[in-house]
Amino acid sequence: MDKFLIKGPAKLKGSVKISGSKNAALPIMVACIGYPGIYTLNNVPDLRDTRTITKLMQAIGCKIHSNKNTFIINSIDCNNPVAPYDLVKTMRASFYVLGPLLSRFKKAKVSLPGGCAWGPRPVDFHIKAFEKMGINIALDKGYVFADGELDSTVINFKTSSVGATGNVLMGCTNLDKEVIINNAAREPEIVDLCNFLTKIGMSIDGIGTSILRIKGIPNSDNKTRKITYDIIPDRIEAGTFLIAALMTKSEITLNNLIVDHIQSIIDKAKEIGAVLSMHSKNSLTIKYDKNIKAIDIKTDIYPGFPTDMQPQWISLMSVCKGESKVKDTVYFDRFSHIPELIRMGANIKLDKNIATIKGVETLSGTEVMAGDLRAGAALVLAALCAKHDTIISRVYHIDRGYEDIESKLKSLNVDIVRLK
Ligand code: EPZ
Repeated sequence: MDKFLIKGPAKLKGSVKISGSKNAALPIMVACIGYPGIYTLNNVPDLRDTRTITKLMQAIGCKIHSNKNTFIINSIDCNNPVAPYDLVKTMRASFYVLGPLLSRFKKAKVSLPGGCAWGPRPVDFHIKAFEKMGINIALDKGYVFADGELDSTVINFKTSSVGATGNVLMGCTNLDKEVIINNAAREPEIVDLCNFLTKIGMSIDGIGTSILRIKGIPNSDNKTRKITYDIIPDRIEAGTFLIAALMTKSEITLNNLIVDHIQSIIDKAKEIGAVLSMHSKNSLTIKYDKNIKAIDIKTDIYPGFPTDMQPQWISLMSVCKGESKVKDTVYFDRFSHIPELIRMGANIKLDKNIATIKGVETLSGTEVMAGDLRAGAALVLAALCAKHDTIISRVYHIDRGYEDIESKLKSLNVDIVRLK
């Protein structure tokens, strides 16, 4: 397993191009299964997770050609509505195939997601929604066995869920009747999925709001799709590099992002004293200013402060003057980064889902281990501003969600080496 060796403290300079969004690419790739066609997807990030979903889609019968960030997906001959455990266990997002498989084949055998790096992360919202749409679901030997005809209904999610909203949306691909989702997720990645599904012929009212009125591709229309679509940039990668600038007291420019998608992060960065200048809706410069101070935050569903930025923010607060509290209201046990940050000298106390951080002068490098994707990102950030060298193990977690991270950091003047 690869490790990163990072020499701290680093002074970043230059600019970085933000890659396509992992959490938009994964559902949009899977959505191509729902209707036969040849789909050209641009700006797909080249990640472990997009490679995993490619393998799963090929097992289902898709033909996929990719060169770096362009994927050509031919789903015309899909014929195997099965998602095996050995592929699903490495990535929870594989569960997204349930919707398109049911929509197109009226049956599916999908492994329940394996244990994620934190929490049980159930899929009960997905299952209840499809049952409400008329599907028979049996759980047996760790698999979901689903079959039946999806029908029109109203889905009321008691908690907003990105995955369950996406799965139901894709389940409606071939349903020429209305389905309403109340309390739908509004994340930009779900908006991107809705825009893709609209482009292939579905009609969706309320995109970007928490009430979606959905109608699938009309039964009268059965021509094979030939679609090209550009995936949105990754807002969490953008937020991660923004924090890297603050932790290293640097000034860098982010390009090819959607500034609007990281407004909650920008607001918090301004609140602690960062200086931001927007060059366009896709480019900004973030500059550390001397009086960075600690503030409390709590994560929330979009457009609130994203839980996927909680670990990175805790890293930042670890080296900001003052005391702060970070509360994660989406996940209550997504804190595997905290013990590792403490080993680097951070002063953090965790009580249930609230971390209390007392900023320290500097962190010091040592050997640490990435527990999951964003915890790994938090450790990279800490290593950038720590004295001496840091060795981060299990970087395969980081490779799931950050494209070419070491070459991007090197181009920002960071001394980072991947140890095979
Ligand atoms: C998506 O996961 C993202 N993953 C996660 O990003 C992100 O943290 C999460 O949304 C929240 O924004 C992808 O898009 C591939 P949820 P998802 O369903 O869909 C509970 C990253 O770092 N829940 O919105 O799994 C759940 O436990 C990853 O890129 C149920 O109880 O998240 C959580 O507490 C990590 N039952 C809350 O709802 C269900 O059936 C929100 O989860 C589904 C979810």
